[in-house]
Amino acid sequence: VHGRTYFSGIQPTGVPHLGNYLGALQNWVKLQRQAAPDDELIFSVVGWHALTLPQDRKALFEAQKDILAILLAIGIDPLRCILFYQNHNSDHLELAWLLNCITPTGKLRRMTTWKARLADSRNANDESEVDESLLNVGLFTYPVLQAADILVYKATHVPVGEDQQQHIELCRDLADIFNRQLKDETDNVPLFPLPRQLFTPSKRILSLRDPSSKMSKSTPDVKSRILLTDTPEEIRDKIRSAVTDSIQGITYDPVNRPGTSNLLTILAACEEADPAEVARRYSGKHHGHLKADVTDAVVEMLRRPRAELLRLREDPGYLADVGREGAEKAKMRSRPTMQIVRERLGL
Ligand code: ADP
Ligand code: NA
Repeated sequence: VHGRTYFSGIQPTGVPHLGNYLGALQNWVKLQRQAAPDDELIFSVVGWHALTLPQDRKALFEAQKDILAILLAIGIDPLRCILFYQNHNSDHLELAWLLNCITPTGKLRRMTTWKARLADSRNANDESEVDESLLNVGLFTYPVLQAADILVYKATHVPVGEDQQQHIELCRDLADIFNRQLKDETDNVPLFPLPRQLFTPSKRILSLRDPSSKMSKSTPDVKSRILLTDTPEEIRDKIRSAVTDSIQGITYDPVNRPGTSNLLTILAACEEADPAEVARRYSGKHHGHLKADVTDAVVEMLRRPRAELLRLREDPGYLADVGREGAEKAKMRSRPTMQIVRERLGL
């Protein structure tokens, strides 16, 4: 009997912020801790996805290495997991092409991520008519590459955020189409398991400066987010200038007190506690007390990953070894599946 196979990816687009860490990356480490011995964990740095938007060559090159170092620094174990660069295993691209050939364009037009890109380009051009022809094909077919990332390892579980639900549904649809198209008389199980999205209790971390929006790498105000590489002084400064409210005392009330509640969410995440319960400890206290404690907790949580990252950045040889070994393991895993797929298609 096989265990589960988990697959998840991260784009090499700069140092992750606290929202990325608490909302996504920390779950990978927890998964690694909680997975059964025969469960497989596959984590990929997905450079091909990053190229759907313009990237600076040097920045991308550095970010690729840095994201691998960050994953190691937060505790991903390359001996326990398959940790690799997507662009080292071209099986992803081959399967993506084959999946493109069974994907109706209408399905991709319905993707909310695509619609959002259309809306963005409309705002940028300040035109009421959207010129779809200006957006690149990679952006359009991105969810198909994502489906290939998952299916090429026959992954059964995909730990990603709620915003990815539509993409996972597409992946299941494509797996189902292929299962029927590529079925062989000798099969007693379908070629591809239908992967399931693994919802983790989502901790949505908000911007420190504008708590009506989420913490994001694309917001111009750098004080709106805490980066995993921030020094304790930078963390202190950003939390001190976090927007809260003028209401006396501390309560957890995300609707009416988003800034205050966001600080409680962060503190609770650091303590692996419930924000409403944490709030009770501060009921008679000021924002200053809360901010001081949030600062201490975040500094403490990021202390080891940050030190480890600084150390790994000085060890390019080790990072290259991890990348190379990860690629070998990834290719070994995908090769037999691709052989069957080619044969069954008549190639
Ligand atoms: P960003 O919005 O900064 O560009 P991404 O869209 O690249 O972040 O998201 C990478 C991962 O981090 C996703 O799994 C996403 O759900 C998670 N994530 C991003 N921002 C936050 C946030 N503010 N709070 C919680 N999780 C987040
Ligand atoms: Na984003």
